[in-house]
Amino acid sequence: MKYPLTLLDPLDIDPRNSEFAGPYEIGYEHLSKLFPGLDSQFVSLEVGPMIENGGISYTELAILAALTRWLQPKQVLEIGTFHGWTSHNLALQLSDDAELVTINLPDGRTPRLDSGGWNARYFPVDKTPLFFEGRPTANRIKQIKEDTANLSAKDFQNKFDLIFIDGSHSFAYVENDTKLALSVANEQAIILWHDYGKPAHWAGVIEYLHRSSREGHLYPLYWLHHYMGPQTSLILYIRGLRADL
Ligand SMILES: C[S@@+](CC[C@H](N)C(=O)[O-])C[C@H]1O[C@@H](n2cnc3c(N)ncnc32)[C@H](O)[C@@H]1O
Repeated sequence: MKYPLTLLDPLDIDPRNSEFAGPYEIGYEHLSKLFPGLDSQFVSLEVGPMIENGGISYTELAILAALTRWLQPKQVLEIGTFHGWTSHNLALQLSDDAELVTINLPDGRTPRLDSGGWNARYFPVDKTPLFFEGRPTANRIKQIKEDTANLSAKDFQNKFDLIFIDGSHSFAYVENDTKLALSVANEQAIILWHDYGKPAHWAGVIEYLHRSSREGHLYPLYWLHHYMGPQTSLILYIRGLRADL
């Protein structure tokens, strides 16, 4: 797997970041510094005229896919499959010997931890049709149907190079899923969270990531959101580089 060589110092991104513990807003220029050549990385996506509500945006999907192609991870983990748009499009970027594991709550099951409000809209009632079913990417995708609160590192055979956290967005689950992700991530790994910056619906993501960033557990966190660049709800963490910034 390819891996970034350096972190970006929050003060080099903008000196006014001295007032804030993160996540720090970064644009395309910063992404290219972290992942040299990402801007000339072309990816093919398989998307329809619209992505269903609750999924990822086209910009987010393109960036995630480009990152996947750049990294060439052997093991990818996604928390929150939904209809599998992201699973399918990330699996499209993988080599034949790589695997994407995606976790979702079983049909008809409600989560064990606190996960109310807008989250309840995405609890699967009946069997959810999966976009990758019957397509070649299905050979590279393995779905685990389980509440993430019931999973631990013992349930996984491999460690992961790239992890995308997009399950329940309550504080309890973002905390649970982040700890699970860190327990199964390789020493050098990339972790991303979806749906940051939407306080009316997904305050749990903001609260957990602010706390972790402030306390230095996850530092530095970068928000792929910039007035001169991508307007996404993706947060990026590069595990394994020295964070003595
Ligand atoms: C926002 S959707 C995921 C979207 C998907 N990543 C994409 O990009 O298309 C969140 C998914 O997480 C699942 N989920 C919610 N709580 C969960 C839990 N406790 N354990 C596992 N999956 C959960 C929901 O059923 C839903 O399918």
